[in-house]
Amino acid sequence: MAYRGFLLVNLVIFSSLSVVFASDPSPLQDFCVADPQSAVLVNGFACKNPKQVQANDFFFSGLHLPGNTSNPVGSKVTPVTVVQIPGLNTLGISLARIDFAPRGINPPHTHPRGSEILTVIEGSLEVGFVTSNPENRLITKVLQKGDVFVFPIGLIHFQRNIGDGSAVAIAALSSQNPGVITIANAVFGSTPEISSDLLVKAFQVDKSVVNYLQSKF
Ligand SMILES: *[C@@H]1O[C@H](CO)[C@@H](O)[C@H](O)[C@H]1NC(C)=O
Repeated sequence: MAYRGFLLVNLVIFSSLSVVFASDPSPLQDFCVADPQSAVLVNGFACKNPKQVQANDFFFSGLHLPGNTSNPVGSKVTPVTVVQIPGLNTLGISLARIDFAPRGINPPHTHPRGSEILTVIEGSLEVGFVTSNPENRLITKVLQKGDVFVFPIGLIHFQRNIGDGSAVAIAALSSQNPGVITIANAVFGSTPEISSDLLVKAFQVDKSVVNYLQSKF
């Protein structure tokens, strides 16, 4: 009997541990179209009255349009998240188009709330992500049109157009609001600034280098 009890306890523990959340919390109704005007604070947006929900609440137009890549990094992300489609609220998915000028990059960044699956629809990209400490292993690959690559949630990743023409990718993410932390902007361009003395020690460089980077971001 003691052994059966032990098995039962194990079963209960295993069952509870096997409940994992791989994306945003699951909806408990057909949909919960975001009501951005609501003052109610929830994990996401409050729901619009379902009787007033229209097809346009689930709709976005414009992902066929190239983003403007005339900027220092030579890339432009066009996001389609719960901000653009209120009907994505609580559904745990979103989409983005990324345009690259020749040699343009999407600089090292991370999505705190979502994994990303990306496909190249024009041109060729060098992509990569770095595993967490202490290994910090770079996992990298060259992608051609039609290739698909995955960036696991939270890991720092990047893309670079290695072709002579422009490149275009479509990325799907496992959150209605995956968030973006662009490493250089966050570390050297925060408001207010992180103390330059701290950054001198963290990056083991001269203060002039830190000041220069802070001026760039
Ligand atoms: C693209 O962005 C640049 C820099 O902001 C701007 O000068 C240019 O007019 C934009 N081009 C288009 C087509 O919007």
